[in-house]
Amino acid sequence: MRKQIVAGNWKMNKNIQESIQLANEVVANVQGLTLNNTRVIVTPTFVNLTEVVRATDGSAVEVAAQNMHQAKSGAFTGEISAEMLTSLGLKTVILGHSERREYFGETDAILAEKVNAALANNLEVIFCFGEVLEDRKSDNHFNVVESQIKNGLFHLEASAWENIVLAYEPVWAIGTGETASPEQAQEMHAFIRKIVADKYTTEVAENVSILYGGSVKPSNSKEIFSKEDVDGGLIGGAALNAEDFIALVKSF
Ligand code: 13P
Repeated sequence: MRKQIVAGNWKMNKNIQESIQLANEVVANVQGLTLNNTRVIVTPTFVNLTEVVRATDGSAVEVAAQNMHQAKSGAFTGEISAEMLTSLGLKTVILGHSERREYFGETDAILAEKVNAALANNLEVIFCFGEVLEDRKSDNHFNVVESQIKNGLFHLEASAWENIVLAYEPVWAIGTGETASPEQAQEMHAFIRKIVADKYTTEVAENVSILYGGSVKPSNSKEIFSKEDVDGGLIGGAALNAEDFIALVKSF
């Protein structure tokens, strides 16, 4: 059965002291909850991973990285490898976020290499994709999403999908306060599940968690998360304070 996931993407926010404090608050609040089938993930910047891993140790809160390089090691100044992440005890990495695609030139081809490197190191991948506003306005959003998923993931064997989580993040909804309506999210998520089923099997498609991201907040999360094919959220702004983030976890 697929899991429900609430993952906080802290992006380039929170220094070391703030990261530890937020992690401690999330852990303290999650302790009192019955999580059932829900995973809670926090994603600090690289430099704060070690301390956040320490702060969450022994709790139900998982820690993931926001990115990684595709190469094993070598002369890639400023980069971080998959093995460096696993050596910290991490089990999950976000790849393909639209901010990486847009500001750091990450193409579908680079992302396919990153996915391979992550999986080869036994890292689970939260794979992000989503259309920009012009694509939605011109009714091209299904094509864009299909091609991002196809180019980034459809070279994988069916068995590799055990370690894939999908995150649909329409770019026009990220950090803008404008959320996709629950119906728009459901429509896209159902489409995604169908293309995965068509390429692989219904079983693969039914088992993959598909998260929605883009201005999810406590005031709208219940409605979005209640949709049949929405298995949780990848949260930016609302993950930066424990109260809002925990309210999102509770909306399951
Ligand atoms: P916001 O929740 O701030 O819109 O960000 C979403 C996001 O990009 C998560 O990865």
